[in-house]
Amino acid sequence: MKLIGLISFLLTFNFNYGRKNVLFLVADDMRPELGCYYGDDFPSKIHPEMHTPNLDALAGKSLLLKRAYVQQAVCSPSRTSLLTGRRPDTTHIYDLFHYFRDVGGNFTTIPEYFKMNGYTSVGMGKIFHPGHASNNDDPISWNMPYFHAPNEAYWTNNKNSWVAVNETTMNEKPLPDAQIADHAIKVLQNVASDAKSGKKPFFVAVGFHKPHLPFVFPDTMLQYYPTDSIHLPDNEYAPVNMPDVAWNNCTGLTSKRDLKQKKVEMGINVTFPNQITLDLRRAYYSAISWTDSLVGKVMDELDNLGLSNNTIVSFWGDHGWQLGEHGEWCKQTNFELATHAPMMIHIPGMTDGGIVTEQLTEFVDLFPTLAEAAELSPLPLCPVNSTKVGLCREGISLMPLIKNPSTPLKEAVFSQYPRSRNRTSVMGYTMRTDKYRYTEWPKFSGAPAYEPDWNILFGIELYDHQTDPEENYNRAMDSSYATIRQSLSQQLRAGWRKATL
Ligand SMILES: *[C@@H]1O[C@H](CO)[C@@H](O)[C@H](O)[C@H]1NC(C)=O
Ligand SMILES: *[C@@H]1O[C@H](CO)[C@@H](O)[C@H](O)[C@H]1NC(C)=O
Ligand SMILES: *[C@@H]1O[C@H](CO)[C@@H](O)[C@H](O)[C@H]1NC(C)=O
Ligand SMILES: *[C@@H]1O[C@H](CO)[C@@H](O)[C@H](O)[C@H]1NC(C)=O
Ligand SMILES: *[C@@H]1O[C@H](CO)[C@@H](O)[C@H](O)[C@H]1NC(C)=O
Ligand SMILES: *[C@@H]1O[C@H](CO)[C@@H](O)[C@H](O)[C@H]1NC(C)=O
Ligand SMILES: *[C@@H]1O[C@H](CO)[C@@H](O)[C@H](O)[C@H]1NC(C)=O
Repeated sequence: MKLIGLISFLLTFNFNYGRKNVLFLVADDMRPELGCYYGDDFPSKIHPEMHTPNLDALAGKSLLLKRAYVQQAVCSPSRTSLLTGRRPDTTHIYDLFHYFRDVGGNFTTIPEYFKMNGYTSVGMGKIFHPGHASNNDDPISWNMPYFHAPNEAYWTNNKNSWVAVNETTMNEKPLPDAQIADHAIKVLQNVASDAKSGKKPFFVAVGFHKPHLPFVFPDTMLQYYPTDSIHLPDNEYAPVNMPDVAWNNCTGLTSKRDLKQKKVEMGINVTFPNQITLDLRRAYYSAISWTDSLVGKVMDELDNLGLSNNTIVSFWGDHGWQLGEHGEWCKQTNFELATHAPMMIHIPGMTDGGIVTEQLTEFVDLFPTLAEAAELSPLPLCPVNSTKVGLCREGISLMPLIKNPSTPLKEAVFSQYPRSRNRTSVMGYTMRTDKYRYTEWPKFSGAPAYEPDWNILFGIELYDHQTDPEENYNRAMDSSYATIRQSLSQQLRAGWRKATL
């Protein structure tokens, strides 16, 4: 027995030796409003200079996905999709309540896959959507106790839309994300020696809550955004010829005490008072800088522990956010601003000089990419019905972009958003190609078939990004776009399998 024990120890030791760790960083509701994303291709020209030195530094040694798209622009559906590597029509997660293992299948998640491969898998903060939607953080994904910040509820329940907190208050009632960063540092210290000796690599997932509402951040962050640097969007109106079904009223924002007191209303072409829009934008930018500073703290510790050169670091925000563009707020739409989100992947020895790609990519691509980067067995492509398949992917590994960032991987990328109209379930399917965004809103069957009925449409949208990067004009009914509309419609209905090159 002893000999077998020794042999298996040596095998494990050799097996793990030199394997790369993973630090998996997540932000909530963070659109790609980061210094590293600014450029000719970023849709809004009206923005302050962002103060995000830490994420910019990480981007500078990463594969920076400048055009990565989430599969559904709201928390649990997006996270579940990324974490299982499958799309909402496979996970069957379209809301913040259902749990994928109940309604989708017993799918292997990213942290679970690393755990199965001998990693210490530790999670903290918001990785899965908490509570029922993940059966409390999907216990099977981790092999160490899960951590939530003790003060989370206090600050989450804050009744105002934003709060700049002073140091005295922060000392009395620490901000959750600060507690999460401190916990991440302790965890890294604990797993460092086994990782460095080659005994056991780690997968450490750190999920920050900001810049999600309420925008709570240290008041020192405001210094980076003097009031005269903050501007109104130049398109505070719904797109011309937008179908109603495309719209979302973000009542979660107007129900905040401060906005309610001022009787701020939400609706198509109901624009917030200027000062409210400016204040919310300034607070959102500040909350991004706060998150950036905490990412910096965790990254510094990785350096201090001598782990940087052997740890893959991924960073993503779960979807975009509308900051008054189109008069629209929050996420929960199929617009560019809601579906486009930040993603970057640092792989030591491979991306150190920084690689920027403009290729279209999707959040379902992260799972196969991390598996390949860490040299785990590659994931097979999911069959059409993968209900009974534990491990598979509906995205592709992004590693070819490291060798050549202009490798075309996909002709189009796909997102979706459900609505209810005429007492009927509707699913908005949207697709981004290099030049266009095209969306159809068919009737949707729901369970058990989960199928669109393309013959019953509640709306069609076509935005021409060559001339209209802000998506201000829906061209779906323009006769001059009839041909392109027809071919985009075919491409959308053919779906993601046909769009992979
Ligand atoms: C789900 O799959 C995992 C392996 O990934 C297995 O350990 C577990 O028992 C399965 N659960 C159910 C309910 O089948
Ligand atoms: C800090 O903020 C609290 C709560 O708003 C306030 O009561 C307190 O006076 C502030 N302290 C300082 C030093 O500004
Ligand atoms: C919203 O305003 C824009 C710009 O004024 C206008 O073109 C559009 O038709 C309006 N939409 C609705 C639904 O009123
Ligand atoms: C919400 O949006 C719809 C359009 O989808 C609009 O008709 C309605 O008046 C809005 N409701 C509120 C409460 O603003
Ligand atoms: C990583 O850095 C440590 C010291 O910080 C060094 O001992 C080790 O050789 C480096 N490993 C690689 C793979 O560069
Ligand atoms: C997928 O397969 C499962 C069982 O393997 C079956 O119960 C389910 O009905 C299938 N779904 C569809 C849409 O065919
Ligand atoms: C939804 O209901 C409205 C009003 O009753 C009707 O005009 C419209 O055609 C219906 N839409 C669909 C796709 O059935």
